Amino acid sequence: MQIEVAKRIQHTEEYYFSRKLREIDALNQAGTKVINLGIGSPDLPPHPSVIETLHAYAEMPTSHGYQNYKGIQPLRQAIADWYQRYYGVSLNPNTHVLPLIGSKEGIVHICMTYLGEGDVALLPNPGYPAYASAVRLSGAIGRPYKLTSQTNWLPDLDALAKSDLSRVKMMWLNYPHMPTGAAAPDTFFKEIVAFAKQYQILLCHDNPYSFILNDHPQSLLAVDGAMDVAIELNSLSKSSNMAGWRIGMLIGAEERINEVIRFKSNMDSGMFLPVQMAATQALSLEPTWYHELNKTYNSRREKVYQLLDALKCTYDKQQVGLFVWANVPSTYADGYALSDEILQKSRVFITPGGIFGDGGNAYIRVSLCATTAVLDDALDRIEHAPISL
Ligand SMILES: Cc1ncc(COP(=O)(O)O)c(C=O)c1O
Repeated sequence: MQIEVAKRIQHTEEYYFSRKLREIDALNQAGTKVINLGIGSPDLPPHPSVIETLHAYAEMPTSHGYQNYKGIQPLRQAIADWYQRYYGVSLNPNTHVLPLIGSKEGIVHICMTYLGEGDVALLPNPGYPAYASAVRLSGAIGRPYKLTSQTNWLPDLDALAKSDLSRVKMMWLNYPHMPTGAAAPDTFFKEIVAFAKQYQILLCHDNPYSFILNDHPQSLLAVDGAMDVAIELNSLSKSSNMAGWRIGMLIGAEERINEVIRFKSNMDSGMFLPVQMAATQALSLEPTWYHELNKTYNSRREKVYQLLDALKCTYDKQQVGLFVWANVPSTYADGYALSDEILQKSRVFITPGGIFGDGGNAYIRVSLCATTAVLDDALDRIEHAPISL
């Protein structure tokens, strides 16, 4: 039987990584195992106390029922305390916080809550592809705004102000920026909040990388009056090594949280109680947790620099976050050409920057989610493969 898929997903392709991982699996079965430096899935475990908490609560007979839609109170309180401690943002845990099953689902919930046909959402190019997919699913139009190294990957607000913003309802932004690793100065956060107020645009800031190789975690909501126009997604996936656990959060004004719950409560129910208690524990860890994690990422990043030097790529050492973004040498047409060649000849997978939008075509992105031993192995393979640099 043939069943036509709904119009809304006719132009939604399978996620790039889901396709690529199948190709990598096929290569693995055919011979040498591929070293995957593509995806940003932390390979290190969460803190032992987090696992102990999960375990202890899973043992309790009372832990297994449905949970409420707004998350348990201790988790909302832990999120509010975490925002106060690290970002200097005061939140009411009962009204400003909504735990999520990962921030990726939050992107869809937000788009489905606020966008409809005819609305326009501004999207970073390059940027995380899930924003564009969620906007498309909602029936609205995604309008990319170009980011370039010349402006340190910050949007040109003057140029945007001169464009037709009449149907723009939402703007997605994400600093520290993935994939480029650019951090935003405080002044920019203030400017973008003023811009959103002037043009009545809902700012959706996605903030999962602020603790990775970054001495000054920042929240857009730290700007005075930001809550009037902005909401923020955050996540334990990267900062607490809990990507597979699916724990994220939405922070915003009470009205925004209640609006998103109207959609989300029709999609899913509250997270498993032991997961919420373990997340509460993860958020309560001392700053040494982040320092130790970053020591590891720092030594890995040094190896990645060596690998990029071997590939004759150029990169900015001021980057923050879980990846290194690098410009490919002009001997390659683009990042896809370099990525394909390394995969075929060296069995090392590196993400081509073009999957994040054509603004990333001349780049590749290397993940820090591999041990230094694995990175040494990748470097060795690249140095010994007949790559046409
Ligand atoms: C910019 C960005 N936002 C959101 C996510 C998704 O995070 P989560 O695991 O919380 O869904 C990712 C994951 O790679 C990301 O890079």
